Amino acid sequence: MKTLGWFVLVLLIINRWSREASSTISSSSSSSSSGAVVAEAMFVFGDSLSDPGNNNALLTLAKGDFPPYGIDFPGGVTGRICNGLIGPDHLGNMLGLGLIPAFQNPNTKGSNILKGVNFASSAAGILDESGAFLGKRWTLDQQIEQFATKTLPELRSQALRSKEGNKELTVDEFLAKSLFYSNVGSNDFINYVVRNYKDVEAYIDWLISKHTRQLKELYQLGGRKFLIFGLAPMGCLPMAILLFNKNAPDDCSEQLNQIIRRWNTKLTELIQQLNHNHSGEGAGTYFLYFDIYNAFLQVTNNPSLYGFKEVRSACCGAGLLHSELLCMTGKAPVCSNRSEYVFWDSFHPTELMYGILIRQAFDGTLQNTFPKNVQQLFQF
Ligand SMILES: *[C@@H]1O[C@H](CO)[C@@H](O)[C@H](O)[C@H]1NC(C)=O
Ligand SMILES: *[C@@H]1O[C@H](CO)[C@@H](O)[C@H](O)[C@H]1NC(C)=O
Repeated sequence: MKTLGWFVLVLLIINRWSREASSTISSSSSSSSSGAVVAEAMFVFGDSLSDPGNNNALLTLAKGDFPPYGIDFPGGVTGRICNGLIGPDHLGNMLGLGLIPAFQNPNTKGSNILKGVNFASSAAGILDESGAFLGKRWTLDQQIEQFATKTLPELRSQALRSKEGNKELTVDEFLAKSLFYSNVGSNDFINYVVRNYKDVEAYIDWLISKHTRQLKELYQLGGRKFLIFGLAPMGCLPMAILLFNKNAPDDCSEQLNQIIRRWNTKLTELIQQLNHNHSGEGAGTYFLYFDIYNAFLQVTNNPSLYGFKEVRSACCGAGLLHSELLCMTGKAPVCSNRSEYVFWDSFHPTELMYGILIRQAFDGTLQNTFPKNVQQLFQF
């Protein structure tokens, strides 16, 4: 069943693309200042890059609730599609909030939501149709709805107190000091391939107009501080190389990366507009853009700086790029040293790679996260 679904995906994608070239960019990095960083909570929206187990009860191929997923996570399997911690886990730790609970976990209620809630669902996209071929998922629109109709009323029913000074906070004040984490879009570009859409500019415009409404809705619901991820170079995913660049498996698919760069440029323009339109507001409204594309290549172009030995093959899987037999079959071998791999499976980074990337969003260069980084955003 799982194998069949992936097989269908692979066939669909193979039908679409085949040629390519290579890609690389490089750049330097440094760090910034520090001080008291206070975020009240974090609310997470997105897909498998952020999903802590919200798909576990759904009928879908997009889940990781079986071994070897969770092999390095304290307590083992949770549904995270990774060997260990994923993006929001690392950022929650850096902000001193710890792990943010999954919305679908029945215990995520009452005082358990005071550090935030994670709504992310594997295979979810900006468009409702994205990820449908994998099965059920909570789309981004549904995630926003869950925040509006369940989490917000529950926050309103509780006494909110600031972490610093233990002052009473209104829900609006609480939300204005919370981080809204949004990492979405990968499945919309898989959808572009699967559905065989032709006009990439029109498709990106469609995504941008829908996503503009979604971000404005989160703003209307009280969000004031946003961390919005661009997309990583998806042409460098082991599966993308296997499908589109099999004859030169050392190189990423430049054709796919070009499309991703186009999306990132449009998303950046949207974020600049949002910042411009909301500048000067009392609650300190900021939409941060995380250039994960650049941050990702900084690592994969200099792997030894980070202890990585393998930037192309997946740790879990077998065959060419460890992507012909997928980790998601539950039957593939796991590499002997997970710290040497950038990719855990054919689509997702390892815990270590997530940690390096998120550190960039937290206190890295403004070249990667602008107009500020997360740490600067929460220094009051
Ligand atoms: C920003 O404001 C301009 C001028 O009012 C408007 O045309 C544009 O749609 C706004 N953009 C966003 C993303 O809100
Ligand atoms: C695993 O790889 C890391 C990074 O290269 C290295 O520091 C560590 O010693 C390795 N562990 C083992 C058990 O070989």
